[in-house]
Amino acid sequence: MAVTQASGVKHGFGVDVGGSGIKGGIVDLDAGQLVGDRFKVLTPHPATPQSVASGVREVVDHFGWTGPVGITLPAVIAAGVCRTAANIDPAWIGTEVYPLFAAELGDRDLAVLNDADAAGIAEDAHGAGHGRNGVTMLLTLGTGIGSAIIQNGVLLPNTELGHLEVDGKEAEHRASSKVKEDKDWSYQRWAKEVSLVLETYEKLFWPDLFIVGGGISRKADKWIPMLTNRVPVVPAELRNNAGLVGAAMAVDTGLRP
Ligand code: BGC
Repeated sequence: MAVTQASGVKHGFGVDVGGSGIKGGIVDLDAGQLVGDRFKVLTPHPATPQSVASGVREVVDHFGWTGPVGITLPAVIAAGVCRTAANIDPAWIGTEVYPLFAAELGDRDLAVLNDADAAGIAEDAHGAGHGRNGVTMLLTLGTGIGSAIIQNGVLLPNTELGHLEVDGKEAEHRASSKVKEDKDWSYQRWAKEVSLVLETYEKLFWPDLFIVGGGISRKADKWIPMLTNRVPVVPAELRNNAGLVGAAMAVDTGLRP
């Protein structure tokens, strides 16, 4: 399903829809890396399904890309339907995502999946989880908390652990990076909440490794050493591109949660 270049390198295309930007780029599927620069348009407000789909088309058209496209959304995508909208426009709930994007992008292979799930498969295959066996849990710490659970390369989609109640409060209302910002907490204060959330996940899922992504993972040395949970925590390696890369991988492998 990928587009093989004259050089033999397989290229794919990923688009990552976030609260502030819709980012896309061509992905080298063998290396799990972006080819050249990515391109971003601002997420429209309100970010209704139709306006976001137009933004995705703009990003794809910018590259003149006509092959398969993988798309992430910050929501549960199950059997082709968007089921939640914690940090996006509520109009997404109940939307059939494949007809929506096909109307903009035409007849081509598409995969639409949760943003953290996409980041998880990319990090597991090409980033911080590469070469590790067992259960890996990727968490994106941003406006919300996204989660992905992967065992030996296989994703359990839509885990939504940011909404798990931890000591009476949703995990993402305790330990997202937005909470740190809103409350103007020090890394030390925030690390206490992150530790509590990780300890809860550990007790329930017994992962072998946590990979943490999101903008705040760039400053991982400031807070990972302060964590008091048991399981090793490492920063994501593909950084901002994990979602794009994972989206392109999903459409290439036919993953359509
Ligand atoms: C959403 C998830 C998403 C995460 C990160 C949460 O609020 O429920 O679907 O993966 O934010 O964007």
